[in-house]
Amino acid sequence: MPAIVVIGAQWGDEGKGKATDLLGGQVQWVVRYQGGNNAGHTVVLPDGQDFALHLIPSGILNPSVRNVIGNGVVVNPTVLLDELAGLEARHVDAANLIVSADAHLIMPYHVEIDKVTERYLGKAKIGTTGRGIGPAYQDKVARVGVRVADLLDAKILREKVEAALDFKNQVLVKVYNRKALDVDEVVDSVLAAGREIEPRIADTRLLLNQALDAGETVLLEGSQGTLLDVDHGTYPYVTSSNPTAGGAAVGSGIGPIRISRVIGILKAYTTRVGSGPFPTELTDAMGEHLRKAGGEVGVTTGRERRCGWFDSVIARYAARVNGITDFFLTKLDVLSGLERVPVCVAYDVDGRRTDEMPMTQTDMHHAVPVYEELPGWWEDLSDCRTFGELPVNARAYVQRVEELSGARISAIGVGPGRDETITR
Ligand code: IMP
Repeated sequence: MPAIVVIGAQWGDEGKGKATDLLGGQVQWVVRYQGGNNAGHTVVLPDGQDFALHLIPSGILNPSVRNVIGNGVVVNPTVLLDELAGLEARHVDAANLIVSADAHLIMPYHVEIDKVTERYLGKAKIGTTGRGIGPAYQDKVARVGVRVADLLDAKILREKVEAALDFKNQVLVKVYNRKALDVDEVVDSVLAAGREIEPRIADTRLLLNQALDAGETVLLEGSQGTLLDVDHGTYPYVTSSNPTAGGAAVGSGIGPIRISRVIGILKAYTTRVGSGPFPTELTDAMGEHLRKAGGEVGVTTGRERRCGWFDSVIARYAARVNGITDFFLTKLDVLSGLERVPVCVAYDVDGRRTDEMPMTQTDMHHAVPVYEELPGWWEDLSDCRTFGELPVNARAYVQRVEELSGARISAIGVGPGRDETITR
């Protein structure tokens, strides 16, 4: 099995960790290929306690797995060191982590600009995580970014920071009425972090291609989700990178034909954090019920997630734009105890029915879900380990979701624990 992509098929937070757990034994490399510390997943440490990772790939807990922060990621060096220190303090050996020399750095001014821009946007804000992700990618595309390799050359680093602050300080002071950042302070803090990161800096694309040539398996771990993709998501309410499967090749430096499997992670209902359209959102007591039953609070920001029914229009869309080979359906157990479970099968856009994602932002904002109601089930699912053990209505729900979503459902999550999963 060459390279496998795991990608969120909704707006993120689908429970991608389940897939990593299920594939764990077969994988020698785990790679992050986009995003930064806007992501968040909780892993269970050997001492049984939870630990939240934001930047480091989830394979770090397995000593035989090599972990890569790929060229497509934006890296906040201070956050990276804090996360490593947190793991080491809890006796996790994080030696097996390398960072691409070509990944871009999130600099202190990116974090500052992210926060002030959001404040400035007021009602039109994106609801970003405030971690400097968008501004770091802006600089990458504008060709004024600072890369991990620049940590190895203090002179070049200083030149780049000086050039960046020449402009950014004017914006901070004159547009946003904030204090200017000091070149020396920025350079010194980044260089200090750089000295610690230096032994981990590598040409990761070379190593990944060599690993694939040697027949090893590489898991490319997407962060956020399909509908947050800057090209394919609900723009402008998106993140600034490409979580979709094509982004995995670009963000890791492997050729697309080496990817043989694309696993889409689908939650059995839908959630979203931050602003933007969400047709099946429930703003009533049922939304509150899903939030409580599913523990829907963001790992990175602590923000409550918006909740709603399963939306097959976006699942079909995700299947198409990612080339999903199979889905993992997560959190089916959260839907236990409902009389009826609505599933969105299409949208009504200004009186017209559409089965596919609306083409324009305006139509997406006007989309009203068309629901099909399925009978619910009352049983606790957490002990089910085969598809046949699920209550008949839960099975019918999975089958209908599969039919509507356009790819096979190969695994089903029935509880938070690693083993609380059914494979089909
Ligand atoms: P940014 O990635 O911080 O720029 O935020 C852009 C949008 O993506 C906001 O709506 C965030 O709430 C959302 N977002 C970013 N990372 C995640 C994630 O890991 N899960 C869910 N939403 C996310």
